[in-house]
Amino acid sequence: LVISPFIANLPKVELHVHIEGTLTPSLRWELALRNKITLPYGSFDELKASYAVTLNHRPELNGRQPGIPTFLEAYFAGCDVLRTENDFYDLAMAYLSRCATMNVRYAEPFFDIQAHTRRGVPATAVLDGYLRAQRDAAAQFNVKSQWIMCFLRDEPVKDGLAAYHEARPWAAGAVKGGKGLFHAVGLASNAYERPPMLFEEGFNLARADGLHITMHCDFGQKDTHAHMNEAIFQVCEGKGSERIDHGLDAEDREELWRGLVERQIGLTLCPHAYHRRTPTEVLFPKIRRLLEKGVKVCINSDDPTLMHDVWIEGNMQKVFTHCGFNKAEMVKLARNAVDMCWASDDEKVSIY
Ligand code: ADE
Ligand code: ZN
Repeated sequence: LVISPFIANLPKVELHVHIEGTLTPSLRWELALRNKITLPYGSFDELKASYAVTLNHRPELNGRQPGIPTFLEAYFAGCDVLRTENDFYDLAMAYLSRCATMNVRYAEPFFDIQAHTRRGVPATAVLDGYLRAQRDAAAQFNVKSQWIMCFLRDEPVKDGLAAYHEARPWAAGAVKGGKGLFHAVGLASNAYERPPMLFEEGFNLARADGLHITMHCDFGQKDTHAHMNEAIFQVCEGKGSERIDHGLDAEDREELWRGLVERQIGLTLCPHAYHRRTPTEVLFPKIRRLLEKGVKVCINSDDPTLMHDVWIEGNMQKVFTHCGFNKAEMVKLARNAVDMCWASDDEKVSIY
């Protein structure tokens, strides 16, 4: 995948990236050594090779392949080397410094606090590590970030609520004395039979604290249309300026894409994530049609190190190449991310 100078130089805003999905094999190897953790790989090359395996995204439909983890199993297994505040700091600084090299001026990364606290890692290590990186990256690389705390939707709702209460002193919004790390909550992990409205109480708590909300409705999953229907007409209803992560399936249901357009709900698309399991001639015309219907979308990376090392620029390159957009249309896509982001107008002027 060759990135053209035009795409490389385009000023960018990234709104859909899981920080734990940016952990490179080399940092994972280094953290395993630092924390005296034995990885189930005999060498660095073996670890690296494990990332090339195409992981089955829908085991419930396709059956398990012995020895091959599902995508989310690989993602959460990677998290195991993250133990101390410094580990979280190093992970976040690695991503944010890479942002500077990709001309990403501002990002709203997701973090999965429950993926760490359920392993016994203190919430303070996670939150302070990311907070320190947020501040240092702004100062050192001029890369600003405001973060999104995700509920793990396949864990009990009460665990997500407890995680929110624990993380709340690190929130921005209207939280008194909040440290300003995260300004939104999201919904991630396995959506199988876990619709967004299950987490209504969590979204309402966040909204009462002045935070934004977003939720994953991944492309091609079981019940995606029903989940999108809830997201658009129940969770987001009457709130304004909220987003849905992925949401590409809205293209084939008129009530869904009209619902998005009428409410100005934007979609954070991650084309390479879908391209791993969708033919080129199906996927890219679908993205094009969604834009033609007037849905606002932006282009993002999701979990770049677990997705063949395709970062935001690779995702933009794919859309540029396969959707047949001209340069002006690509600039419009980059601008959409600025419109959709939750930075203040003053901050938007300084980042773009
Ligand atoms: N959390 C991190 N990456 C994810 C993905 N691709 N889908 C759902 N949840 C995730
Ligand atoms: Zn995602």
